[in-house]
Amino acid sequence: MAELVRLTRHDDIAVITIDNPPVNALGPGIPEGIEALLGEAAQDDHVRAIVLIGAGQTFIAGADIREFAKIVSGERPRLSLYPFLLAIEDCPKPVVMAIHGAAFGGGLETAMAGHYRVIAPGAQVGQPEVKLGLIPGAAGTQRLPRLAGVAKAVEMCATGQSIPAREALELGIADRLIESDLLEGAIAFARDVAAKPAPKTRERNEKLGDTHPALFGMAREQARKSGRGMTAPLAAIDAVEAAARLPFDEGCRREAELFDECLYSSQSRSLIHAFFGERTVAKIPGLPKDVKPAEVTRAAVIGAGTMGGGIAMTFANAGIPVIIKETAAEALERGMNTIRGNYAKSAAKGRLSQADAEQRLARITPQLSYEGFDQADIIVEAVFENTVVKKQVFAEMSRIAKPGCILASNTSSLDIDEIASAASHPDMVIGTHFFSPAHVMRLLEVVRGRETAPRVIATAMALGKKLGKIAVLAGNCPGFIGNRMVAPYLREAQFLVEEGASVEQVNQALYDFGMAMGPLAMDDLAGLDIGWAIRKEFARFEKPGVRQPRLPDLLCELRRFGQKAGRGWSLYDADRKPSPDREVTALAEKTAREASIPRRTILDEEIVDRCIYALVNEGARILEDGIALRAVDIDITYIYGYGFPAWRGGPMFYADTVGLPNVLMRIQESERTHGSDLWSPAPLLTRLANKGQTFAGFDKQRESVRV
Ligand code: 3HC
Ligand code: NAI
Repeated sequence: MAELVRLTRHDDIAVITIDNPPVNALGPGIPEGIEALLGEAAQDDHVRAIVLIGAGQTFIAGADIREFAKIVSGERPRLSLYPFLLAIEDCPKPVVMAIHGAAFGGGLETAMAGHYRVIAPGAQVGQPEVKLGLIPGAAGTQRLPRLAGVAKAVEMCATGQSIPAREALELGIADRLIESDLLEGAIAFARDVAAKPAPKTRERNEKLGDTHPALFGMAREQARKSGRGMTAPLAAIDAVEAAARLPFDEGCRREAELFDECLYSSQSRSLIHAFFGERTVAKIPGLPKDVKPAEVTRAAVIGAGTMGGGIAMTFANAGIPVIIKETAAEALERGMNTIRGNYAKSAAKGRLSQADAEQRLARITPQLSYEGFDQADIIVEAVFENTVVKKQVFAEMSRIAKPGCILASNTSSLDIDEIASAASHPDMVIGTHFFSPAHVMRLLEVVRGRETAPRVIATAMALGKKLGKIAVLAGNCPGFIGNRMVAPYLREAQFLVEEGASVEQVNQALYDFGMAMGPLAMDDLAGLDIGWAIRKEFARFEKPGVRQPRLPDLLCELRRFGQKAGRGWSLYDADRKPSPDREVTALAEKTAREASIPRRTILDEEIVDRCIYALVNEGARILEDGIALRAVDIDITYIYGYGFPAWRGGPMFYADTVGLPNVLMRIQESERTHGSDLWSPAPLLTRLANKGQTFAGFDKQRESVRV
């Protein structure tokens, strides 16, 4: 404990430093340590005031998130932070909180229990618990409204968004901004206030009366929209409402009840899984420790279509100058117009300043030649999804690239090894599969080929982070992780329409499950022609006699390519608002008749189970094939690339929560009805289910074997 929290004396000011790397989380021993040192300082007659500060990069990033699972499983008792925070607030000498980095969750709650807060200009404060499916659990919902006002507290607790130091100062969360050395400034401040009466946040009720009568109702409406399906934001609003209506102690009791409800929910387990998962995917087992990523300071992109343009913007947004090349002036101009339009929209909406937008645009150099490509550290190919075309482009890239330049393909499904065979240095070739729109979507699927050099993998993963993406490493197979799984998911959605469900019912059932959009709406957005081209490319792998969806090809033959064509699975108006189309129903009926598929009433539950378990079953195969490193890599791919609800933890974690024996049973039912070619259970899933194990357990086991 001595090294986790320490006390030093600076004449008449005691300084308590928390030193619990990496983020000074309030793990076991920290609150007890602070409380003990506070007592020591309070009793020391030479000490007039106390400063609490964090060592390293940050103040306190909150409670130790790893502890929650232990509490839920009963491995650890649930310790309350309320008495610890009351001990700070009731300290007879002024306690000054010195904030830099992040004061998040329990960190901000600790800070608010102090009598004063001073803050460094780059610091952020927030109550991000809802992002973990929780609410502030140490009086954050009670003290924050007393400092920042009820409306702001509702907003911060319900959205989890943090605010910067200057805003914290304006709101009254912080008392002084310290532009120079934080510790020195905090000590000086402590000396200034040492003789004054120390204000207790819990007694400051003057801002509690400023609530608009409709505030809570409006906040709930907003939370239901922006956090669709999530329970924690609503609980957070309830807790802040309790602060506005009840005395402090009673408000704290209400907060504790609500916190416990959240803590023991599957939503919080799922979101905590996603939090750690997001960080786990960056860790690549087997990559030699001495492999360091190369610097990427200049980039080039080939193809200024939908993806090439977005990828170029992604580089420019991260401060990396980028050249974008096309084959014809018209295509280049079209691509640049889209880029200009995107920046103009962002500036008009106030997301970017005009100057920022112009600066970013200026980093993109459009051209028809390969001039300057020999300076690039990475060249990303984003031309048509066709192996022959891509191989031609890779042969050209090899000729013009400087030694050590990474040659990346944005292919969404093609064989990276085949593409690499056209390059003079296949070890420099890698897949960087961005998602559409590339400058918005967080996922980057990095695809390693047979010969891809470890350094190239390390560089692509690090580049992902620099570009603000979450990079997941996948192995090479048709569709990699994401699109290989999406194929059976979409297949089932399409089958269901042939079997009698409407397009709207299929979309709505999965939307209600929590997906960002229904599968057929996603198909329409991506463009049905893409799937058509891929089906043609992979037709040789199809087993004769196995049922394939017939409808999507029929739609494409009618040039119903989705949103961009104004019609696909649905009809679209000028604003791309969908409406049902009787022509699709008629086509579905005709297809069913011709293929002797009985049409029937289908329940939403069957729609969700068939689509989601198709994902899970393929995911299990992907895991067993080693295409995904861990089940959690699949979960993160689906949350950040395919709109899977994070509060369900991703498809594999969701299957764990349903119970793998239950999932297996449903898959076996589908196998009996639809045949083994489509629905044989993945061997890994069967093994885990029969042994009563989980995908999360499988990840842990693999991890321990590696260690
Ligand atoms: N508990 C345990 N570990 C944590 C943690 C926490 N609160 N916050 C971060 N970590 C770990 C990460 O898992 C990571 O571990 P790894 O290196 O083994 O992968 C390491 O610390 C560094 O984290 P990041 O990679 O995220 O580092 P960044 O510098 O990018 O970001 C941060 C730092 C902004 C603090 C970010 O980590 C963060 O937002 N953390 C979560 C904060 C949070 O949610 N706090 C609320 C906790 S719940 C709570 O306090 C309940 C209370 O009301 C009672
Ligand atoms: P697109 O058709 O919009 O753009 C391709 C562009 O490449 C065209 O503008 C074309 O003129 C240009 N081009 C072709 N050959 C070229 C060459 N030799 N030199 C320079 N430019 C050339 O296609 P899109 O949608 O941008 O797809 C590109 C790649 O990204 C494909 O491999 C696709 O599978 C993949 N992808 C597409 C996604 C999507 O949603 N559209 C999502 C993820 C990946």
